[in-house]
Amino acid sequence: MTSTRALLMVSGGIAAYKACFLARLLLQAGFSVKVAMTEAATRFVTPITFEALTGHSVATDLWGEGQSEALDHIEYARWADIAIVAPATANTMAKATHGIADDIVSTLLLAFGGPVLMAPAMNDNMWRHPATQANLQTLHDRGVATVGPGDGWLACGTISEGRMSEPEDILAAALEMAGSLKGLRPDQHPRQEPSSIQSGFWTGKKVLVTAGPTFETIDAVRFLGNRSTGAMGFALASALIQSGAQVHLVAGPTAMLPPRGLVQTDRIQSACEMADAVATGLQAGCDWLFMSAAVADFAPKEIVDGKIKKESMQGHWSLDLQGNPDILAEVVPVHRTDETKVVGFALETEDVLNRAASKRQAKNMDYIVANNPTAEGAGFGGVNHQVTLLGSDGVVWQSDSVAKSKLAWGILNNLADNEKDTEYDPRG
Ligand code: CTP
Repeated sequence: MTSTRALLMVSGGIAAYKACFLARLLLQAGFSVKVAMTEAATRFVTPITFEALTGHSVATDLWGEGQSEALDHIEYARWADIAIVAPATANTMAKATHGIADDIVSTLLLAFGGPVLMAPAMNDNMWRHPATQANLQTLHDRGVATVGPGDGWLACGTISEGRMSEPEDILAAALEMAGSLKGLRPDQHPRQEPSSIQSGFWTGKKVLVTAGPTFETIDAVRFLGNRSTGAMGFALASALIQSGAQVHLVAGPTAMLPPRGLVQTDRIQSACEMADAVATGLQAGCDWLFMSAAVADFAPKEIVDGKIKKESMQGHWSLDLQGNPDILAEVVPVHRTDETKVVGFALETEDVLNRAASKRQAKNMDYIVANNPTAEGAGFGGVNHQVTLLGSDGVVWQSDSVAKSKLAWGILNNLADNEKDTEYDPRG
């Protein structure tokens, strides 16, 4: 399916920095996100931050002058399913009320016909001013939704009303808005392909998802780790939650925020801790396991209590490592039931499909998602990735090079379709 398209419009207040977190939360929750910023907003946060987060060019002016890519000035308004203005300053709210279109944000707001969510943020006197309150009333009367502002510490040094709502609360309001899109006119529907949400395949399923790297302790300050960000596992968890599954996330050390709505979250460090958490999760009953974590295959044989001093090495250090448990091969078979479906992930740089297929068989997985991080359009650290989903009958789905949030939906939809195709039909 194509996820709901959110146009995040950032106007110029100190709370603009929180809009970066909001962009990330929206992406993690499965939205496609594009950003427009007023000139004032770009003084608080650089458009490059949003460009890096969303993978899309940021609209910053009507003439496309400061942008990396030329944009038709209302292109983003045509693209979006919902618009979120965060922070919404008194000025932007006033312009929206009066139909003024003299910068990119106010112009997009005027051109956009779908639902709008505003997260006001301003000085408390500005918020309480009759002009702002009258504008708010008009906006509400026209169907604009608002979240906040809340009470709290304001940048002007007072503790009062006017502080922008926390990104998590704005996300919750955006999710609600996206959910209610179903009630809109057909021409305003988000552009969706048949999805696992619609088919209800994942609804009520108990799903265990592992994500991120594991860190294997060397001494009090050092560890062995890998480059996994956890993005794939978090995107899967997020899409599963939105599809109605009960998701238990076991996450290694990563800076990513878990999506809202998880039934359980275990934060672990090492492969052994992940193995224990997976065993416990499977014992509690589990319909599907997505083993997307990049589990370290080896760990230091001994953990040193304090910090190993450089002088003790005399210019050379060889670390004695021992194998970690292979969770899929050794732990999962002990605790899964016959009904538990297992999806593994394979990172291969050569002979990708054959090696992934062998890995699937060797570790008794139902499916494996093969990924070549060195392939064009699939690279480490890049925004887009390309994968192949393999089952017992070979290739189930080959993705385009797309963002991980989109991959997650593709994986879930194709698993759902494939499972339905292989379900026993008593009519023959
Ligand atoms: N995996 C696991 N336990 C490990 C290592 C990997 O459960 N100790 C899981 C991963 O989460 C992934 C699958 O096994 O779903 C394949 O991982 P990958 O690293 O590609 O394969 P390995 O079996 O570790 O083999 P190699 O690194 O040699 O390719």
